[in-house]
Amino acid sequence: MLMNQWYAIEFASRIKDGEPYRTTVLGEDLVIWKKPSTGEIVVQSDLCVHRGALLSGGEIYDDCLRCPYHGWQYDETGACVKIPAHPNTPIPKKARIDTYPAVQRYGFIWVYLGDTPEAERPPVPELPIDDHPEARFRDYKVIEAEYHWDANYERVLENAIDIAHAPFVHRETFGNPEEPEVEDYTVDNDGRSATATVYLNPPPPSGIWGKIRGKERDKVKTTTGVYFPNVTMLRPELPMGEFLLFTAAVPIDENRTVSKFIQLRGFFTGNWADKDSVKRTLKIFIEDGPQVIGQRPELLPFDLQAELHVKSDAIQLAYRRWRQEAYNAGHGIDTHQFLTHKNVKTVIPSPVRRENPELANAWVMKEAPRRPGKNGLMDETSLEGKVEADVE
Ligand code: FES
Ligand SMILES: [Fe+2]
Repeated sequence: MLMNQWYAIEFASRIKDGEPYRTTVLGEDLVIWKKPSTGEIVVQSDLCVHRGALLSGGEIYDDCLRCPYHGWQYDETGACVKIPAHPNTPIPKKARIDTYPAVQRYGFIWVYLGDTPEAERPPVPELPIDDHPEARFRDYKVIEAEYHWDANYERVLENAIDIAHAPFVHRETFGNPEEPEVEDYTVDNDGRSATATVYLNPPPPSGIWGKIRGKERDKVKTTTGVYFPNVTMLRPELPMGEFLLFTAAVPIDENRTVSKFIQLRGFFTGNWADKDSVKRTLKIFIEDGPQVIGQRPELLPFDLQAELHVKSDAIQLAYRRWRQEAYNAGHGIDTHQFLTHKNVKTVIPSPVRRENPELANAWVMKEAPRRPGKNGLMDETSLEGKVEADVE
């Protein structure tokens, strides 16, 4: 999996004042909390360095996160500022936890899982909506929901931008298996996101409308996109009005993903339409489920030749290209061990480790091992030649 990226990991609405919130991303347990005096969002390793208790089971106390076990208090930088059993003894340097840069934007909590200094970090992905909650709630009805998959997040992510599957997998909802052709499209790729606009054939109208209007229906102009590393967008131009779906494919670990989606609806803005609207979106995920869970290998192959690519896969290839570059740049980590070794716990390193090299030995939790980049499992020459050949 990839570190040194901004992951959208949770709905901002889930984080309540005074309540540490537990989550797991890239196999690492994280705690999210709000610092009472400033409202700042704090995301930290959910692991007390004393005896490994889950800090998320603790409480917010004195502007700190207090461990439920022996009451050690950690501030928003990750430093332990109080060991209640020894109030008059200096606190050891090693008493600190990893703290990751975090922001709240577009209704999500974004966390930078990695250790690069601020100047070298990519910016938080820019989604094509107004970040301001008031603007979002003024222009749209906004709803949030989620869907769990026993599948790797890259398989889930690619499914969300896969164009050619709609006529088959979604024949009961918006696809039309009678007209599955995907016209050539171009991918807009700026290195941080890749978007494409396509024209999908809607299913023929049924019932009385089919009789009145005949079988002809306009194609639905649909823009899809991926904002690296883990957010996708779907924006069909529906006759009723604007509709946007932003989905964070949150990698719980290698084998489990939760898709957290924010749906913005510019029509039927009353509460009455919410339940049906969420149900319709979930139905689409449910339709995708068996295909995505059934894909083998379970993890996205590194060797591009392990799968066959055609023109309609161009947007997915933009993702694979970005991913390969990130691995080649050395951002890969081996998170498999989180699942297999119960007596070892490592964490994704946070920026403070690099900012304070003198603390190099002052970390109780060791860093997750890096995955080989250029000379490792990745075959960096396989991409260009093979993709072009397949696509032509
Ligand atoms: S385990 Fe956290 S204070 Fe002891
Ligand atoms: Fe789908």
